[in-house]
Amino acid sequence: MNMLPIKDNVFYLGSKDINRKLFDQLVPLPQGTSYNSYLVKGSEKTALIDTMYPKMIDELVEKLDNGGIKTIDYIISNHAEQDHSGALPVLVEKFPDAKIVTNEKCKDNIKNMLHVDDEKFMVINDRDELSLGDKTIQFIFAPWVHWPDTMFSYLKEDNMLFTCDFLGAHYTQYDLYANCSKSLEEAAKRYYAEIMMPFRNFAKKYTALVKEMKVDFILPSHGPIYDQPEFILDLYEEWTSDKVQNKVLIPYVSMYDSTKILVEALERRLKDFGINVKVFDLIHCDEGELSMELVDAAGVILGSSMVLAGPHPAAITTAYLVNALRPKIKFYSIIGSYGWGGNLTGAIENMFTIVKPEKLDYVIVKGKPADSDIAKIDELAVSVNEKLKQIL
Ligand code: FEO
Repeated sequence: MNMLPIKDNVFYLGSKDINRKLFDQLVPLPQGTSYNSYLVKGSEKTALIDTMYPKMIDELVEKLDNGGIKTIDYIISNHAEQDHSGALPVLVEKFPDAKIVTNEKCKDNIKNMLHVDDEKFMVINDRDELSLGDKTIQFIFAPWVHWPDTMFSYLKEDNMLFTCDFLGAHYTQYDLYANCSKSLEEAAKRYYAEIMMPFRNFAKKYTALVKEMKVDFILPSHGPIYDQPEFILDLYEEWTSDKVQNKVLIPYVSMYDSTKILVEALERRLKDFGINVKVFDLIHCDEGELSMELVDAAGVILGSSMVLAGPHPAAITTAYLVNALRPKIKFYSIIGSYGWGGNLTGAIENMFTIVKPEKLDYVIVKGKPADSDIAKIDELAVSVNEKLKQIL
């Protein structure tokens, strides 16, 4: 395993973790992911930018050894999460003279999580510069994409921006550079939805900043390097905008098909209006796909059966997820069926503590839907269509 040259003494030392199924024991990874580390050799000093997920440390060390790297002067940590900082304890032992260069918040997080000694750090401020001789790295603080400690590192002479998690993707079908394919776009959108969307306004701000910089390369810490930065920046500009699409999501769970009958009737009616409808069976769907669709959906109609006098747990989990991801949805409703009684809506409503979509009339029926219940679904479909006309 070797370091891959990018440009003028800048090298890629990423590792692919193709078999990883989940991130944070939560986010599905259909392709696994990659952890990218970069080496910059200046005429006087050498810097490593971000490190590695602890499980993959051996690969990083092997690449450094095969590249004949005997000295590292600086290990720049753009973000403390351990998929990028996890190799620090091993590396500061291997390179005892190396300083970990980072901001105060990131230092604090690294010390708490990895117990690295205080004297190993060099703390920098926003826009400070670090000279490597013929190369200069400037630090640009970018808090909340997606942790408060996040920063970018800008290699001035080569016009390269190392963005850590920002603009990344859990994507492994690449050698070095982004192929700008539809599959990369989907992976980047899934990543954005799950990691950056809760911080949309910050992501919007830093997308604009990176656009203004007109860098030649964006080098994230997950996924491929962008040698055509406009590909990912244009996508982020669209995703972080305030605009929604003519799209409605219907995530549902149905125990005896009664709720499913309501869902299918609503899907038909909405499609008759020309609305893009995405239906998700919550017991079998990949929540990453649901998250992706939340990026630009206008509304969510949540379907649930009643379990023990309340909504099915899958419906509550989905409402929690929607609230946590903070999509720009404008409206919601709940549809569902119950057997003998209970409150099908209260626990779901209570989940919306951050996002505040407008509530449309609920359609809650007893048992198998009758014609009169389907008529109420028709009325809900009309309301959705009218709402979309106002919004779009
Ligand atoms: Fe890829 Fe926030 O770590």
